[in-house]
Amino acid sequence: MDVKIKRGCVGVDWGQVAAILKEVGMAHHEPELHEKAFRSSHTTVFAYVQDRLVGFGRAISDGAYQAAVYDMAVVPEFQGKGIGRAIMETILRSVAGCNVILYAAPGREGFYQRLGLRRMKTGMAIFVNAEAMAQRGFTE
Ligand SMILES: CC(C)(COP(=O)(O)OP(=O)(O)OC[C@H]1O[C@@H](n2cnc3c(N)ncnc32)[C@H](O)[C@@H]1OP(=O)(O)O)[C@@H](O)C(=O)NCCC(=O)NCCS
Repeated sequence: MDVKIKRGCVGVDWGQVAAILKEVGMAHHEPELHEKAFRSSHTTVFAYVQDRLVGFGRAISDGAYQAAVYDMAVVPEFQGKGIGRAIMETILRSVAGCNVILYAAPGREGFYQRLGLRRMKTGMAIFVNAEAMAQRGFTE
């Protein structure tokens, strides 16, 4: 399988980004809001198979010493083929030298642990949808 990993937002179908986030059960919004979020990010990575968007991820960062990863997703039929790893490794190379933080969806911690990330003991957050995030297991 020929997977192309691309950096940057050129030619991205933001409707597809929203649809994929919805398909994998992650927070999703109007396409324009995803475009704003990705375009405002330090690093954006998209994976294509035969011109089909099959996964993506992004990092916000000061480009100096701090970074955070968001919106990591791979289309279900393409999961388990190393695409998520390729996206994350591209992001990590792009913010090399930075501390990198993220919060894993419950059950996905092992994916990030295999990439060398370790559990944080003091992570804190204010979520916009606090009740829903608590119910989904993100907060106490
Ligand atoms: C999590 C996700 C991005 C992983 O992408 P993927 O392409 O399926 O992962 P890969 O095939 O690259 O797997 C890389 C490694 O992580 C492991 N892995 C993948 N998902 C895992 C999980 N849920 N738990 C434990 N290990 C996992 C793989 O076995 C593989 O191990 P290896 O390299 O030692 O063989 C993808 O499953 C996904 O989009 N899930 C739904 C959305 C989601 O939950 N996103 C994360 C939000 S924080």
